[in-house]
Formats: sequence, structure tokens, C-alpha cells
Amino acid sequence: MDQDSAKQAVGRRAAELVKDGMRVGLGTGSTVRWTVLALGERKPDVVCVATSRQTEELASGAGLRLVSPDEAGALDVAIDGADEIDPGWNLVKGGGGALTREKVVAQMAARFVVVADESKLVTELGGFGLPLEVLPFAPGVVSDRVLALGATTVTRREAASDNGNLLLDAAFGRIPDPAALAARLAGIPGLVEHGLFLADCVSDVLVAGESGVRELVR
Ligand code: A5P
Repeated sequence: MDQDSAKQAVGRRAAELVKDGMRVGLGTGSTVRWTVLALGERKPDVVCVATSRQTEELASGAGLRLVSPDEAGALDVAIDGADEIDPGWNLVKGGGGALTREKVVAQMAARFVVVADESKLVTELGGFGLPLEVLPFAPGVVSDRVLALGATTVTRREAASDNGNLLLDAAFGRIPDPAALAARLAGIPGLVEHGLFLADCVSDVLVAGESGVRELVR
């Protein structure tokens, strides 16, 4: 199975978890795109919260009913991709720049389901880089603080986030203690959000590869 077929298989499998009456969080990216399309084909009686403008457009084009996070209040399930998944189910997310909305939606959900092709499984987080959303007010100050935590470089993306903030990528190389780094990043004023999603918010991980779709056991 090539990578695109794996993304399609696992994205579609996750759509089967969505049942009538649910409030559903829709992630962002090329894997969860297939979840949205599958839901659009089946059209269960659900309301959805999107994690980006891109997903909002895709979902509304697919005929799904969208509400704001505040209107939904809480979610039964949220389904999203990941850039890296470590053996303990800590994640790096934000490759698509939607990390802040993705984290809000993940934490609203009773069940947070991660969908990925096998290339996202890593022994230790860090190789992908760490996406950061930062206020445009003082990106240099924030970058210096991130460098002081051990990043070797912090680069700025051209595109702004859907929230009008800057998107940066920090290269830590290795992140041996994701919880400790997450706590230190959370303490930097002006850093709106970081792309570390700790394992305690993850309920299920579905991955697809040569042998088809499988559910990881923690
Ligand atoms: C979006 O900001 C990201 O967190 C995505 O969920 C992540 O990059 C996975 O994307 P793909 O499904 O496209 O690999």
C-alpha cells in the first residue's frame, strides 16, 4: 500500500466510529481529509467542529453541518492526523499550521482518535521539528526563549495561522521528555501554542501500512 492509499484507508476507517447523534471534531490534513469525505458520502446525523478553514471548506462542501466550538460545548469524538507519534502516544502536530485549533478541539473530545500512515511512528519525537504558533507582537523574543530551551534553530513560515498569528518551527532534534518540554513552552509569554500533544489526551491511534489498518495498543 503506498502512503496515499494508507492515508485513505485509515482516514475512512476512522469515519466508521462516527454514529448518529454525535458531536464530532474534524482535524486537519491529508489523512483526516478522507474521514471528512467518507462522512460526506454517508451523511450521518451529526454536528461537526472544524479545526481549520481548510477543513471547514472541505466539510461544508461535503454537506456536513458545522457549528462553532462554543455551540458544540463538548464533543463525543475528535479525529485528527499527526506528524509524529512516539511509542507512548505523545504526538507532534501542526505541520499544517492548525495546531492551536486542533488542541482546543482534541481537548473538547471525550475520545480523541489519531489517524496516520506508518511513516508517522517514531521511537522518539523531534525529527520533524516542532511547530509553534506565536503572537506577531514579539516573535524574536519568543524565539530566543525557545532557543534557550535547547532548540538549535527557529524558523518562521511565510503563511500566518487561521488565527492571524505567526507560525514558527523549532528544531530540537530530539525531544526525550515531551511533558517537560511542553510545560516549559507553556510558560513562554507570547507563545500561543506548541505542537506537542501529550499522550493523556489520546484515546486511540489507528495506523495504516502494508498490512492494512491496525489499532495500536498502548
Ligand atoms: C495540521 O496542523 C497537522 O497537525 C496535521 O494533523 C498533521 O500535519 C498530519 O497531516 P497529514 O495527515 O497531512 O499527514
